[in-house]
Amino acid sequence: MSEQQTPYGGASTASDGPKRVRTRHFQRAKEQGIKFTGLTSYDYLSATIFDQAGIDFLLVGDSAANMVLGHDTTLPITIEELIPMCRAVVRGASRAFVVADMPFGSYEAGPDDALHTAIRFMKETEAHAVKLEGGVRSAKQIRRIVRAGIPVMAHIGFTPQSEHGLGGHLIQGRGEGADALLEDAHAVEEAGAFAVVLEMVPSEVAARVTAELTIPTISVGAGPHCDGQLMVWTDWAGFTTGRVPKFVKRYAELGRIMHDAAVAYRNDVETGVYPGPEHEYE
Ligand code: KIV
Repeated sequence: MSEQQTPYGGASTASDGPKRVRTRHFQRAKEQGIKFTGLTSYDYLSATIFDQAGIDFLLVGDSAANMVLGHDTTLPITIEELIPMCRAVVRGASRAFVVADMPFGSYEAGPDDALHTAIRFMKETEAHAVKLEGGVRSAKQIRRIVRAGIPVMAHIGFTPQSEHGLGGHLIQGRGEGADALLEDAHAVEEAGAFAVVLEMVPSEVAARVTAELTIPTISVGAGPHCDGQLMVWTDWAGFTTGRVPKFVKRYAELGRIMHDAAVAYRNDVETGVYPGPEHEYE
C-alpha cells in the first residue's frame, strides 16, 4: 500500500484496492470474506474526507431529510432537494461508489415511475447506483431499473419511508417476521439488486440472510455477520442529540467540538482577542 497524506493530515487509504469501487468489488468482497464500509454523505466536504479515508461507498440518503433539512421523518424530501446534494458528493468522491437514495413517492406507483426517477439520478448527478426501499413490494421496480443497466441497492427490514405503516422505529424480522424478511431478501436478489441493506434486524436473522443470498448484505443495525456496514454519518460523528439507536457507535463528538469552538469564537470577538494582529492586512 502506498500511503499518501490527505489535506487533513491522516494517511489516505484510498490507494488500497480499486481506483474506483464498482459493483463487482462488493460481490468479490463477499466471496473473499472481506468486510466493506459505507457512510451517508450529503455534501462535497464530507464526501472528500470519507473518500480519502477509504470508505468504500457513500450513500446520499434520504436521511438528509432529518440530518440536513430538519424534518421529523424522511418522507418530505424531494428528488429536487436530493439531486444537488448527490452531485456534490459525486464531485467529492474519486474512489468511493456513490449511491443515490430514491425518496418516498418517487417509485411506489410502479416500474415506469421508478425507472424515470432512477434515470434522473443517474443522468443529473452521475451517481453510480440508486437505492430504494421494499422487498417483495418493490421487486418489479428493481427489475425494471436493473434491466435499464442501472445498479440497484435494495433496502429491507426497517424501511424509514414506511415508518407510519410499520408503527414506528421497530426492529423487523423477529419471531415469525423472519420468514417474511427472508422472502423480501430473496425477492430483491432475484429482481437483480447487487446488494441489500438490512436495517434494524436481529443479528441471527441477518446472518441467515447473508448465508442464503449470493449478493452482499449491508448492515444498518443488523449485526456483525453482514458483508458490509453502513452508518448515517451525523450519528457516527456525534452530531445527533437525544435518543440515538443502539447500533450507532459514535466515532467522534464533533457536535460538542463545534459547539465549544463557536463559544470560543464568540468570546474572542466579544473580548477583542479575535482578530489579532496576525489576522490583519497591512
Ligand atoms: O437514508 C439513509 O440514510 C438510509 C440508510 C439508513 C440506510 O437509507
